[in-house]
Amino acid sequence: MKFFIDSFDLCTENTDCIVVGVFKSCQLTSSANNLDQYSNGYISKLINQGDIDGKIGNNLLLYDIPNIIAKRILLIGCGDKNNFGAYSITKIIEKTIQMLNKRSIKNVIFSLTELNFCKNNIYWFIRKIISTIKKEFFKINTFFKKDIYLNSISFNIIDKNFFSSAQIALKHSLAIDLGLTAAKKLSNLPPNICNPLYLSLKSEKLSKKYKNNINVTTIDINQMKNLGMHAYLAVGQGSQNKPYMSVIQYSGKNIVNKKVIVLIGKGLTFDSGGISIKPSQNMHEMKYDMCGAAAVYGTLIMAAELNLPLNIIGVLAGCENMPGGSAFRPGDVLKTMSGKTVEVLNTDAEGRLVLCDVLKYIERFSPSIVIDIATLTGACVIALGHYATGLFSNNEDLVHDLEKASQQTNDKIWRLPLFEEYEKDINSNIADFSNVGNGKAGAITAACFLSKFTKKYHWAHLDIAGTAWESGINKGSTGRPVELLSQFLLNISNYTKY
Ligand code: BES
Ligand code: MN
Ligand code: ZN
Repeated sequence: MKFFIDSFDLCTENTDCIVVGVFKSCQLTSSANNLDQYSNGYISKLINQGDIDGKIGNNLLLYDIPNIIAKRILLIGCGDKNNFGAYSITKIIEKTIQMLNKRSIKNVIFSLTELNFCKNNIYWFIRKIISTIKKEFFKINTFFKKDIYLNSISFNIIDKNFFSSAQIALKHSLAIDLGLTAAKKLSNLPPNICNPLYLSLKSEKLSKKYKNNINVTTIDINQMKNLGMHAYLAVGQGSQNKPYMSVIQYSGKNIVNKKVIVLIGKGLTFDSGGISIKPSQNMHEMKYDMCGAAAVYGTLIMAAELNLPLNIIGVLAGCENMPGGSAFRPGDVLKTMSGKTVEVLNTDAEGRLVLCDVLKYIERFSPSIVIDIATLTGACVIALGHYATGLFSNNEDLVHDLEKASQQTNDKIWRLPLFEEYEKDINSNIADFSNVGNGKAGAITAACFLSKFTKKYHWAHLDIAGTAWESGINKGSTGRPVELLSQFLLNISNYTKY
């Protein structure tokens, strides 16, 4: 499946199908109007007959159109002209792809650029269309188990001044999609295949594929012991599958800004809860407790594909939380790598125990920014549902930049506070902290715990518990927040402020 940016004479182009838009109350877009005139009013005749009304997603496939060489024209309803936005684009593209693929149509021209809702910003228009097409393909392949017949989609760019922006958008979209798809596939694997060792082997493969830019170091339990990562180790000690931490170092060419950006992904390949075992009903979903690690993996693929001029270190914190004779217990007191001690009151609050040691470990890279991505708390799902990822941070500029990337990609995040009042909730009378709060504001007390280990750098924590996967009949990983992180990195590739 290939995408092209080009400019066509729609009437004389020999293709399987041309896709053009029709607005509500029968207003033709300029491409539709152009085809209408050439075909002696064939399209307007059908519209006047009431064959299509322009409601969003409503459509009509035409064959043997007078004076038109293309085999077919797909008229797609675009809804209200004055209310056209990202949401409309998603609906239109989803419907278009379904229609085309149902009929095994192979080569198409999308002549939709006049729908450009971002006021002449063709870049965002193409980005949005391609990401929607790619997501629809993924659905068709994985959920409907159908083949993709489409061979090529060409975008008809009427104004040649927009060519280069469209080309860049295409390039960015494909790289982001590669990362997003890799993250989804990795997250969807069952936990008997995707264990901590598997995660580390996947990481090592990146250094083969991108050998000029990526170096991978794998930290095993012996090295963790030497480093004093006893909180991380405790979480993994009940499992036959030993923990592995992968450190993926990416460095691009022509780096403007030498400072390091660290991305840390929680990689619990299965979280049974440990001795504080979870109820059995939805326990199978805890294979997705490594979605943070998968998102970091995918984001690094994107960076390597685009050769971003940055230094990025991705850490996949692979581990499995199991009950058993050698498992850690409620009541245990653990010495973290930072030297601070933690009283374990619940072995199911394991993510923060793994992450606190990684947050200490990465100090050695003197990072300018650290972002951890974790399916950390059920409480975050209660607070924000499945639409927005929870954001916590100790730096306003970083918040600003993440929010900007979030708005650009529609990969939604929402900031929650880290007021000092919450700190007393994780007090312990026998250790520096306890690993759980008092049952209230659980997403915040978890973030508050992490914040104890992030004083030395600008840090953000993304709690993706509600956004990383979908449950039910179409269950599967969403790949979030790969798009957010990719956009954030694309944006700072042009900055020098960190
Ligand atoms: N991985 C879970 C969080 C989670 C739960 C994500 C449900 C998505 C859906 C995490 O390790 C966990 O178990 N957290 C506990 C913390 C509690 C014991 C303080 C939780 O949220 O219940
Ligand atoms: Mn847990
Ligand atoms: Zn967990």
